[in-house]
Amino acid sequence: MNTKKLASQGPQTKAIHSGEPNRYGVNGPIVTEIVRSSTFTFSNTEEMKEWAEGKNKAYIYTRYGNPTLSVAEKKIAALEGAEAAVVTASGMAAISSSLLAVLKGGDELISTAQLYGGTYRLMRDVFPNLGITVHHVPPDLCGIERLVNARTKALYVETPTNPTLRLVDIEKAVEFAKKHKLVALMDNTFATPVLQNPIALGYDMVVHSATKALAGHSDIIAGVSVGSEAWMDKVRHMIIYLGGSMDPGAAYLLIRGIKTLGVRVQRQCENAMAVATFLEKHPKVERVHYPGLKSHPDHALAKKQMRGFGSMLAFDMKGGLPVARRFCDRVQLFLLAASLGGVESLVILPIYSSHYNMSDEELKRAGVSPGTVRVSMGLEDKEDLIEDLKQALE
Ligand SMILES: Cc1ncc(COP(=O)(O)O)c(C=O)c1O
Repeated sequence: MNTKKLASQGPQTKAIHSGEPNRYGVNGPIVTEIVRSSTFTFSNTEEMKEWAEGKNKAYIYTRYGNPTLSVAEKKIAALEGAEAAVVTASGMAAISSSLLAVLKGGDELISTAQLYGGTYRLMRDVFPNLGITVHHVPPDLCGIERLVNARTKALYVETPTNPTLRLVDIEKAVEFAKKHKLVALMDNTFATPVLQNPIALGYDMVVHSATKALAGHSDIIAGVSVGSEAWMDKVRHMIIYLGGSMDPGAAYLLIRGIKTLGVRVQRQCENAMAVATFLEKHPKVERVHYPGLKSHPDHALAKKQMRGFGSMLAFDMKGGLPVARRFCDRVQLFLLAASLGGVESLVILPIYSSHYNMSDEELKRAGVSPGTVRVSMGLEDKEDLIEDLKQALE
């Protein structure tokens, strides 16, 4: 593999070819092999000694690393424009291990308040027990300067936010982090590396729920953290200690999914725009949250910092929760299910999924109302999707 040549290639070429072993020559498999082994041999004790002293980077045990995992890591690092990546058992393993690679008891973290509910609950229910204080800011980062003190160590942002698709100005956020010498982390799950690359703007680490668009077929739970070699070394150690390593079978499916990421995201963006435009005109819909619509408060920012408006949207129904429930019970092509980024279009009520177990105050801060319906666009024909919405709304 010619890595120099790959560095200047487009994202779809990188998604297909980065990280793959040399596939030229007779009898070479085109598809990445799954190395199922949990453990790896050494030829002699001298090699083992060198591994223990950090003088060689041999594989020893799959929790520490594995050839199939390495292919997935190189692909995602190339797509995000980062030096390295660590694949993990889930998005939450990537998020918790990356944050714990930075924070210790007594430290403080500033995070956007609009977050995937699991990340929010980790910060609310677990971090205080470890002596880590978390401060939340709105997506426009209003009031952030007042929250910094000598104990503040990191800034964590998610954009577009889950589920109401607000945007954080990613340049403004990283400038703030640099000014105060904070480690900047970003969850890039919703946008994917196809639509925005925070590392190029100076973020130290980017995390993904690879369960979603990266893998793309709703058949694995997976995560990844990307960044410099130095940060990924720390994250890998957290994964080794806490045990959130990826299974090689999942890595195979992740690699296979990544190869079509670009075409899937492009199609999902087109479908999302068509569905958002349809919903915005529907008399039973109160409000549509999609950054591609001119009515969205962050439309101008989306045009500035994203290469497309994304595959996720949400909408509020007139009549609130009972009407939203009836809608979700009536869709036939859209499936009622959690998660996102797969080939099937999905609908979900955030108050019964990502945002369960939250007070009214927390839901308000997260921008979630009981009648909010979140939509993950799949790859079906948009005319069929719109027909299904029409019948479910009537
Ligand atoms: C934006 C975002 N980040 C992180 C996660 C957590 O990822 P996982 O479910 O793979 O642990 C999710 C899951 O829904 C998510 O939507």
